Amino acid sequence: MSRLSLRGWIVMVIWCIGLSAGVAYANSEMEIVETGRLLATLLDTGRVTVGLNQGLLNDPSKGDKGFTPEVFETQLVALYKKRRGIDVSNIQDAPIPEMAKPLLARLVEESKKTVASYQTVINLKGVKYKGLIPATFGTETAKRFQNWSHVYLKQTAPDHFLRNPKNKADAFEKNAMQSFATTDTHDPKAIFSQTIPEEKTVRVMLPLYYDPACLNCHGGPKGERDISGYRKEGGKEGDLAGAISVKLPLP
Ligand code: HEC
Repeated sequence: MSRLSLRGWIVMVIWCIGLSAGVAYANSEMEIVETGRLLATLLDTGRVTVGLNQGLLNDPSKGDKGFTPEVFETQLVALYKKRRGIDVSNIQDAPIPEMAKPLLARLVEESKKTVASYQTVINLKGVKYKGLIPATFGTETAKRFQNWSHVYLKQTAPDHFLRNPKNKADAFEKNAMQSFATTDTHDPKAIFSQTIPEEKTVRVMLPLYYDPACLNCHGGPKGERDISGYRKEGGKEGDLAGAISVKLPLP
C-alpha cells in the first residue's frame, strides 16, 4: 500500500467517524423528542383506560371489580397499539428509539402499581367514589415514574382549571396551553414539542380537552361540589382541560 493511499484511507475513516457521530447526534435529538411523545401518549393512554372503566369502578352494587393490574395492562397495551401502533408488551422488538424502551417499560410498571394500590378500595361494595379516576391515576403514576427515572412527567392545567397545586404549570406550559386553547383544530393527537437549546432540554406537551364525561366533575354548575369533593370549574365540552407535559435533557 502506498503512503498516499494509506493517508487517504485514514482521512476517509476519520471522515466516516465524524459523519456517523454527526448523524448520531442529529438522531439523538429526534430520538429524545420521540421518546417524550411516546411517554406522554402512554400516560394519557393509562388515563383513558381508567376512564373507560369508570362505570365499573364506581358501581356500588359490585364487590370484586376484577380490575386487576393485569387486566388494566392488557387494556392499556391494546389501546396503545391502536393509538401508536406499538406493542409495549414486546418493547424490545418495537421500532422505537432505544432510549425509549426502558422508560416505556417502566411507565407501564408504575401505571400498574397505581392500579394495584387502589385494589382494596375499588373492591369495596356500597361505595360509589373510590378515588381512582383518570386524574389521580395520572398524578400518582407520573410522580412514581419521575421518582424512578428523574424524567420530568406531569399533568398540568391552566390556572383557572387547576385543582391540585402540585400540577401548577410553569411559564412554558402556560404558553403552550394558551396556544392549544386558541387553535381551532382541538386535535388531541397534535402533540407539541420544542427544543430549548439554552436550557438544554426538550419539552413535549400533549393537550387534553374536556369531553362530556369530564363535565360531571369539571362542568357546571360552577362552584358546586363534584363527586370527588372539589368544586366544579364550569368547563365546557371542547375546552382545553390541561396537558401532559414531559421534559427531557439534551446531551
Ligand atoms: C370523578 C371526577 C372527575 C372526572 C370525571 C374527571 N376529572 Fe379531572 N380531576 C378530578 C380531580 C379530583 C382532579 C385532581 C386530581 C389530583 O388531586 O391530582 C382532577 C384533575 C385534572 C387535571 C390535572 C390538573 C389539575 O387540575 O390538578 C386535568 C388535566 C384533568 N383533571 C382533566 C380531566 C379530563 C380531560 C377529564 C375527562 C377525560 C377529567 N379530568 C375527568 C376529577 C375528575
